[in-house]
Amino acid sequence: MARMVQHRGASMVNALRGSGRASSSVSSPYAALLTAAAVGGAALTVGVACLWPQLIEEYAGIRIVVKKVRCNRSRGRGVGTGSKNEDKSDKGGGDAMSAALRDVIQHEISHQVHERVNAMNKAHQAAGWGGKVFPPTATLPESQRMRVLVTGGAGFVGSHLVDRLMAEGHEVIVVDNMFTGRKKNVAHWIGHPHFMLIVHDVVEPILLEVDQIYHLACPASPPHYQYNPIKTIKTSTMGTLNMLGLAKRVRARMLLTSTSEVYGDPQIHPQPESYWGNVNPIGPRACYDEGKRVAETMMYAYHNQSSVDVRVARIFNTFGPRMHPNDGRVVSNFIIQALQGKDITIYGEGHQTRSFQYVEDLVTGLTKLMNSDYGLPVNLGNPEEYTVKEFALLVKELVVGSPSAIVHMPATKDDPAKRKPDIQVATDVLGWQPRVPVREGLSKTVAYFRSELEDTGEIVPTGPDATRPKPCCSNVLSPSREYEDHLYAETMPAADETRLY
Ligand SMILES: NC(=O)c1ccc[n+]([C@@H]2O[C@H](COP(=O)([O-])OP(=O)(O)OC[C@H]3O[C@@H](n4cnc5c(N)ncnc54)[C@H](O)[C@@H]3O)[C@@H](O)[C@H]2O)c1
Repeated sequence: MARMVQHRGASMVNALRGSGRASSSVSSPYAALLTAAAVGGAALTVGVACLWPQLIEEYAGIRIVVKKVRCNRSRGRGVGTGSKNEDKSDKGGGDAMSAALRDVIQHEISHQVHERVNAMNKAHQAAGWGGKVFPPTATLPESQRMRVLVTGGAGFVGSHLVDRLMAEGHEVIVVDNMFTGRKKNVAHWIGHPHFMLIVHDVVEPILLEVDQIYHLACPASPPHYQYNPIKTIKTSTMGTLNMLGLAKRVRARMLLTSTSEVYGDPQIHPQPESYWGNVNPIGPRACYDEGKRVAETMMYAYHNQSSVDVRVARIFNTFGPRMHPNDGRVVSNFIIQALQGKDITIYGEGHQTRSFQYVEDLVTGLTKLMNSDYGLPVNLGNPEEYTVKEFALLVKELVVGSPSAIVHMPATKDDPAKRKPDIQVATDVLGWQPRVPVREGLSKTVAYFRSELEDTGEIVPTGPDATRPKPCCSNVLSPSREYEDHLYAETMPAADETRLY
């Protein structure tokens, strides 16, 4: 530590030792550093007697208060001891030199503290002493690094997309109102210089400077989007308009995460992008399905009228770690039920088919689409088709030793009989197709839900008793407890009112 204080300006800090009047009010672990700086070795080389009542330096959140600085008038004599005699010698010289010396001190303290804090951070990280270690990120030249906005980036899909963009070396801004988003999904990036989390509702406008916008903000699972259908409609309509307005203003390219739900209960199988769909406009799912349909309409209206560069992904069922434990869909329901040894509940006979893609594949598809020249809607999904019953059996097999029985409940309203993407467009224009086998993705998802269960105890995935996740964090960016209570109040739809798949 003595070596760090050997050059000229630093000696002013050292001088404080001689005066015996240095004090620092700092927070650990930097206190040791500043104390050491204050008691270090060499003498002051600019020896002009002076007296400041107080010098305050603030750097990197460290507040250093130097109560008094006493210096000798003559050059090269070192610092005084603070005796009354020296106080007298101060008259006349202090004011003249104070500004210059103050600059030297301030600069030097900043410099020293900065260097030491950086070194300590690096040492902490290397030694794993609780210093924050971020996942690795690529270094992109300024010309290639984009600032990317991800709305809904604290949610399931959004947080995986954030991971990809950060790993590629971009700057990422997440805007999320934390309705179904969880801070822990992005906690590993908080504090990274390329990452920012803004708690904000997209129904309200926001002004940002960005190059690309991935617009995901919208509750995606039936229990969540049916919890407050009017809010879901507002999110899809006003939220999308706000983001399009932003894209237009800053000339950003914008991608909307639409959904296979725009096909409704399809009469064509598998569903190509050219299919216009079969949606019940007044059914329980309409707030979501029609909301996404009109959001797509808005995307192309802004493109045609205002030349906004748009991309539309129609996403089919996606699963993976960070799914919301009570998202109420078939993957999470079955896994949670199997892990807890509870009955695996199938609504109807279980002959309805679904296809499931792993979230990593989806993220690859989204980034490829965003960075392609293709502006029309693109299906992103895994065409591998399972009946719901087959899927329940597969989950039971993967949760080894699960004693769960498979039971049937009454079918739910407007439940599509078949759902399978035609991904020819994605293959042709993006060179994309899913790579992760469903089994492999399911194993990772089972491991994730196992750890969620360890954290939260019992999980009740759907219905009025649906498990409310533990408040994720104590940080200021968390939603308030009242807000969470509001979200998971007893008004949650009952299981039989809730469309599950
Ligand atoms: N997961 C799927 O299988 C699937 C299928 C089709 C489409 N999608 C679409 O992908 C997107 C992400 O879905 P997900 O599965 O990650 O869902 P999710 O619920 O985990 O994520 C949605 C995120 O949006 C946030 N959000 C909701 N309303 C908001 C608002 N008004 N303002 C700001 N933030 C808001 C939520 O807090 C959450 O973080 C959604 O647009 C969804 O419609 C998902």
